[in-house]
Amino acid sequence: MVDEPVNWEEREHDATAAVAAAATLDALDDARVRYLGRKSELAQALRGVRDRESGILLNGIRGRLEAALEARRGELEREQLEAAFADDAFDVTVPGTPVARGRLHLLTQTRREIEDVFLGLGYSVWDGDEVATVWENFDALTSDPGHPSRSQNDTFYLDADTVLRTHTSPDQIRALQASPPPIYMISPGRCYRRDTPDATHSPTFLQVEALAVDRHITLADLRGTVQYLVRELFGQEREVRMRTSFFPFTEPSVEFDITCFICGGAGCGTCKHSGWIEMGGAGCVDPDVFRNVGLDPAEWSGFAFGLGIERIAMLRHGLPDLRAFWENDLRVLGQF
Ligand code: DAH
Repeated sequence: MVDEPVNWEEREHDATAAVAAAATLDALDDARVRYLGRKSELAQALRGVRDRESGILLNGIRGRLEAALEARRGELEREQLEAAFADDAFDVTVPGTPVARGRLHLLTQTRREIEDVFLGLGYSVWDGDEVATVWENFDALTSDPGHPSRSQNDTFYLDADTVLRTHTSPDQIRALQASPPPIYMISPGRCYRRDTPDATHSPTFLQVEALAVDRHITLADLRGTVQYLVRELFGQEREVRMRTSFFPFTEPSVEFDITCFICGGAGCGTCKHSGWIEMGGAGCVDPDVFRNVGLDPAEWSGFAFGLGIERIAMLRHGLPDLRAFWENDLRVLGQF
């Protein structure tokens, strides 16, 4: 059977009508495929063109159809955009989705504040190892060989000679060994003890150690330094008092308290109605500690003190439970 000759005028008319009638971009694309696609009558005919006249005719139709398609596409896209604007116009009064900003953990903020106070006094800030030898953590600090704090019930041993430091005081030993005095240093960092977590205990906690070694250092220097620190941290009205105490690596040893910054000393729940809040342990460096690191106690003298960083943050912000620091509940931590 011989194919009927195609009436191209009629075809062009149909195709142009189909393009004009396309109401959506999808429908327009269907018309494009149908009339101009690779398998369309027109494309097939164009592939078979042998004479000049047919070529001019068919290319002319293709050119006009392509132009009509592009024009219609432009119209439809504009209509779509206008419809989108009309439908869900952008309402600038709708509250946005808040973007949560990160911040430093309260303990990091507190540690940095303490560091800033001491940097201002000319101290250097140490970053001591959390792993210490038994000698650094206990022996060189002249701790009693039979003291229960050395037992495996209280201290995490890595092997017979190595522990996770139970306090930052071994950094006193390391600092004394690292360079000859004068030494003015603090060492903030993580410590470990085999404690069961509760509101005031945690198997890991942060301390900051301070050590000043020079000629003619006295307890009065200790007192002045502690007073400067607590006034920077807790307010210029704070008073400091020292009570005698015992630590194996200081002689004399003291504990120091500050006047309560909640009630100003009148008595309240925070200071347990005493007007005073315990801050930390301190003392003058024991001559035996100097001897243990090869320094002459006749030439050198010093003071040291240790503070709990969590305790400072809790007191300042009225936080009742230490565990909040490690639970990472952003509703709590986000407040600071
Ligand atoms: N290392 C002691 C502790 O963890 C605290 C301490 C007391 C540190 C007296 C000192 C000090 O530097 O002089 O309980």
